[in-house]
Amino acid sequence: MGIKPDFAIDLGCGVGRDTIYLLHNGWKVLAIDKEDTKEFILKKLDNEEIKRFSFKRQSFENIEIEKNNLLVANFSIPFCNKDCFNNFWKKITNSILKERLFCWEFFSD
Ligand SMILES: C[S@@+](CC[C@H](N)C(=O)[O-])C[C@H]1O[C@@H](n2cnc3c(N)ncnc32)[C@H](O)[C@@H]1O
Repeated sequence: MGIKPDFAIDLGCGVGRDTIYLLHNGWKVLAIDKEDTKEFILKKLDNEEIKRFSFKRQSFENIEIEKNNLLVANFSIPFCNKDCFNNFWKKITNSILKERLFCWEFFSD
């Protein structure tokens, strides 16, 4: 597909499974989670990767999402409070720039 690393957001990053993968592959990544998992992630990064990494402690229910080229949200979206879900979904779709990607995995068998 010829996708070049650019700016990605990992929503509900947890301990950084996808964030770390993206950083290892040249992306700049903003990782977001309601829990403070920043230190777990930092331990897995080298100095150059740390420069491309940022972390925000934020809940989906009152989140602001920057424009991005790739939004990853694996196993996290269903945790959003249902009363806030429509607004959250709108913010997700509005945040992703042209020629963009949105990857998510819900829970399934
Ligand atoms: C099952 S883990 C998935 C972690 C990671 N995306 C992965 O695939 O390994 C779900 C993550 O979503 C975060 N989370 C759950 N509810 C959230 C909310 N309302 N706002 C922000 N993060 C939330 C949790 O703290 C947890 O780190």
